[in-house]
Amino acid sequence: MNIILLGPPGAGKGTQAKELEKKHGLLQLSTGDMLREAIISGSKLGEEVKTIMESGALVPDDIMIRMISNRIEQPDSKNGFILDGFPRTTAQARELDVMLERKGMKIDFVIELAVQYDVLTQRISGRYNCTNCGAGYHDEFQKPFKEGICDQCAGDQFSRRSDDKPETVKARLSAYEEQTAPLLPYYRKMNSLSSVNAMAEISEVTLEIESVICVP
Ligand code: AP5
Repeated sequence: MNIILLGPPGAGKGTQAKELEKKHGLLQLSTGDMLREAIISGSKLGEEVKTIMESGALVPDDIMIRMISNRIEQPDSKNGFILDGFPRTTAQARELDVMLERKGMKIDFVIELAVQYDVLTQRISGRYNCTNCGAGYHDEFQKPFKEGICDQCAGDQFSRRSDDKPETVKARLSAYEEQTAPLLPYYRKMNSLSSVNAMAEISEVTLEIESVICVP
């Protein structure tokens, strides 16, 4: 089973992708995480994309298409994947269709995490991750069981993303509105779009996604 999660920054794509990964043995393919890893590794790609990401703009389509095309060739993608953050433009969506067809693969579900913009800044500003294993938390909505200790790996170091500053979040939301939101009618037209209420609590959103993907 291959799934696309669509939604603005902070809608909960990463949070829900991790749930799907745990429950269904699918692989989360987060283009944002891949780009952040490239920056940390100091690679040429990382250098190329750092300033773009810090401005809140989108990385050029050709880079992203190459990245995903290479990634889904890997053996661990064969059991199914969740695209978290890709496609983000109509050009990426069209190219994804072509590359999947060429590889004899397809997307089974495109799920929109529908959310009102006024909650996004609060979600993003409270977000932090375990530095060791990457597990995601929130100051208010998703605290670790024991304060200051990661539930997954017992690590005690956490970090916040450099593009989660309010001014960058504004630019990321504009990029979503202008370049990514047009994908909703694109997938609706293809009859492959389902929408879930991402204003609900995290566990309720998970249940709603389950009801979409479990219906034959
Ligand atoms: P990326 O890393 O993909 O960021 P994003 O799309 O902006 O999404 P986020 O990771 O901010 O949010 P999310 O929806 O995953 O929310 P989360 O689950 O963390 O991209 C970063 C940058 O990389 C882009 O700006 C661009 O430059 C570049 N890039 C990446 N892909 C690209 C592409 N394909 N093309 C071009 N450029 C690309 O949740 C947020 C917080 O809210 C968490 O703390 C969570 O605990 C909490 N939360 C989640 N759900 C709920 C809920 N239901 N109720 C309450 N709290 C909740």
